Order: sequence, then structure tokens, then C-alpha cells
Amino acid sequence: MKELKPEFFSRIDESNDELFYQVPRMVKHIDENACLAIENFYDDVLPSGRTILDLMSSTFSHFPIRMSKECVIGLGMNNVEMDANPILTSCVVHNLNCEPVLPFGANRFGAVVVTVSIQYLTQPVEVFRQVHRVLDTSGFLIVAFSNRTFPTKAVAIWRAVPASQHQQLVEYYFDLAGGYENVQFLNITPKYIGYTDPVYVVMGQKS
Ligand SMILES: C[S@@+](CC[C@H](N)C(=O)[O-])C[C@H]1O[C@@H](n2cnc3c(N)ncnc32)[C@H](O)[C@@H]1O
Repeated sequence: MKELKPEFFSRIDESNDELFYQVPRMVKHIDENACLAIENFYDDVLPSGRTILDLMSSTFSHFPIRMSKECVIGLGMNNVEMDANPILTSCVVHNLNCEPVLPFGANRFGAVVVTVSIQYLTQPVEVFRQVHRVLDTSGFLIVAFSNRTFPTKAVAIWRAVPASQHQQLVEYYFDLAGGYENVQFLNITPKYIGYTDPVYVVMGQKS
């Protein structure tokens, strides 16, 4: 992969994201096994005593119960969805595709998560640079993804490449954004339990 051309980030539905997200969807976007896998993973990696940003947030953050004592800020497109999220301390409605600049000061967060939403970002590299700015030293950006999507709102490159290459695409976003180290891929799909949506993670640490 070399240049990420603007047309790679076109979408079938180019109308304002506000329209698509105006009706609340108080649902889980992946199955229960996959949700639990993410929750267990976040339990392992999310730090205590640091503010966490749930970027592209909705009603479920898939955070372990211990995080209900922590400061967790949600940023997403729908206030009703985020108001119903029991883990969020506060939330902000903000369209990252119109304004990738994050409405937060520098070095504020111990970790930033993007859960099953990366495919909707039309300027992912700029957003990753912004995440780097708001992360505290050694803070993690954790991108979890599966194989489900709203196809009309997913960017062209996400739909065009095989699912097996989504990992490389997200790693490339980290690479182009710069300032991250220890970028690693993990397959956290639950094993031995029958059908489950797959769950993958690419995460990196602010250097
Ligand atoms: C499939 S849902 C996932 C929600 C949640 N992260 C989860 O794990 O259930 C996609 C989320 O991406 C957010 N989103 C989509 N486009 C966005 C944009 N342009 N700016 C900010 N958030 C966006 C929406 O608010 C929506 O909640």
C-alpha cells in the first residue's frame, strides 16, 4: 500500500452523517460473544485512574464493570445513544468527517478506543494524529473491528480490500499518522464456542 488517494475514502452515501445517525440505534453492533471478547480485552489493557476517550461512541462501550468508577468520555454522532450508555461520564456530539480536530486539550487521555467504527472515518490519518495529540505519554490508541458494517457509510477502501487486509490498512493509518510505537495486531476472536463474529485489534502506543 502506498498512497491513500482521496477516492479511497468516498462512500455510497455521501449525505451528511448527521442524517444517517439522527435516529438512535440503541443496539449492539456485533454478537454477544464478540462483545464479551472486547470487554475482556479492554479489562486487560485499559488503565485505571486515567481518563479514557471512547471515540465513535454509542450506547455500549463494551467496557468492564470496573470502568464505571473511571472517567470515560464519549464522542459520537447521537446524544440519545450516548446518554443511555451507563459507562460514560460525559459525552460530546462531534462529526469527525466534517471536523477531524478533536475538541480536547493535549495529553488528556490514558487511552482512546475506537470500537467497530474505524471503517466510517473519511480522514483516518488526521484523526489518528489528533488522537496522538490528546493521548498522554505512553497512552494507547486501540482500534477494535469485526466484519459487520453499514455498507453505505463505510469508506470505499474498507469495502474494496478483503477482510484479511483490514489489519494492514489500520496499521498503515498508524504508520502514516506517525508518533506511535509498539503497533501490534491481535486476533481476539473467542475460540471453541461455536459461531461468533470475529474480533481483531490493532493498537499502538504514543511514543
Ligand atoms: C457501528 S456504531 C459503533 C458504536 C460503538 N462504538 C459500539 O462499539 O457499539 C458506529 C458509531 O460510529 C459513530 N460515527 C459514525 N460516523 C461518525 C462521524 N462522522 N463522527 C463521529 N462519530 C461517527 C456513530 O456515532 C456510531 O455510534
